[in-house]
Amino acid sequence: HHAIDNATVTKVRAAIDAGHTHAEIPAYEGLEAYQDAGGYDTLRTLRSDGDWEAVQAQVAESGLRGLGGAGFPSGKKWGFVRAEAGPRYMAVNGDEGEPGTFKDRWYLERTPHLFLEGMLIAAWAVAADRIYLYMRDEYPAAIAILRDELARLEQAGIIAPGYVDLRRGAGSYICGEESAMIESIEGKRGIPRHRPPYVAQRGIFDRPTLVHNVETLIWVARVCREGPQVLSAVEKNGRRGLRNYSVSGRVRVPGVYLLPAGSTITDVIAAAGGMCAGHRFMAYQPGGPSSGLLPARIDDVPLDFDTLAPYGTFIGSAAVVVLSDQDSARAAALNMLAFFADESCGQCTPCRVGCEKAVKLMQADRWDQDLLEDLSQVMVDASICGLGQAAPNAIRSTIKFFPDEV
Ligand code: NAI
Ligand code: SF4
Repeated sequence: HHAIDNATVTKVRAAIDAGHTHAEIPAYEGLEAYQDAGGYDTLRTLRSDGDWEAVQAQVAESGLRGLGGAGFPSGKKWGFVRAEAGPRYMAVNGDEGEPGTFKDRWYLERTPHLFLEGMLIAAWAVAADRIYLYMRDEYPAAIAILRDELARLEQAGIIAPGYVDLRRGAGSYICGEESAMIESIEGKRGIPRHRPPYVAQRGIFDRPTLVHNVETLIWVARVCREGPQVLSAVEKNGRRGLRNYSVSGRVRVPGVYLLPAGSTITDVIAAAGGMCAGHRFMAYQPGGPSSGLLPARIDDVPLDFDTLAPYGTFIGSAAVVVLSDQDSARAAALNMLAFFADESCGQCTPCRVGCEKAVKLMQADRWDQDLLEDLSQVMVDASICGLGQAAPNAIRSTIKFFPDEV
């Protein structure tokens, strides 16, 4: 969470201009290469004589759910936004801030046009007047690539000048919460709003707004081009679809792995080359710190939406962080709460004071478990947004699964 300064962005930008020779800039698929492979044909066809409800039905049939982490059925949002009178806006959430999550970055730096075409298809589906593309500032290469490629789309006449407004975040985790992101886009301090009203009804400048995560839009493009079966035909352990797991921690080959959504932690670790030499698998975060910690013995559960509810957690953004016998669950949980205390926007007391108090209680030799549980319940019940509501997952899961450490 270190904001990258303008000098770095300029440096990366200069590297792009020089032909991607800079080590920080990956070679990516540009507009010409994308179009040569049939890119933007789907968008062109839909724009000329497409039926948005037919596309919505395809997306629903694919089973696509929001991949920012909440898993809300993607096509459903289109109906909510379209039902409202215009002008309507779209906001893309590229503020990938959940620690351990880097799947959006991986695709933005390799196939930016797949994402951009999905974005333009979704914007077409809800007849959005304008798109705000909110990008995490810690991704200077992705920002520079998008800036370049949006200019190319304007030159090619695929978008009108200014139709897509690329905005840089400023290093705040909470600005990835959709309503805080909207406040930030409006030029205000990024703090979450109360819901309802949902952003589909009142979003940017109080207008109906479609909000999607980057990866969700990549799948919109693929579903429209390849058909719903690109997701729906994949089945494993009774689950359908595919999932991009961002895998890090004590594995031999950390990275983004596209696997069936029914994959277990055993499958995910195997995909990442197994455990590092000399490390025994001990615990994992299934979806970053928001999801707390699970013990190694829970190794046969599909890491998908809904399946982790019996264990008191969720898959979220599928940021799988693997810990070994050389790590401490207690230290990891304290680290997570320190992160939340740092990133709390401070707007509501249960979260602002709760995170700080939890950190102090978790620094004691022995945790006061009753008090921590009491505090957790207050935070879950009374926090305005997901940050304060999810922070106690790290406390509760550590008490439940690693009692000997606390
Ligand atoms: P949420 O379930 O409240 O909302 C999900 C989406 O559905 C939102 O766009 C919301 O507006 C929409 N929605 C829900 N109910 C609706 C209704 N009745 N009418 C219209 N729209 C409706 O979840 P939230 O708080 O947006 O996201 C939480 C997730 O985000 C967690 O799973 C967490 O792991 C993940 N997360 C991901 C991060 C990342 O970097 N990708 C960072 C931090 C959290
Ligand atoms: Fe801000 Fe935390 Fe309240 Fe969310 S829960 S609004 S981050 S203080």
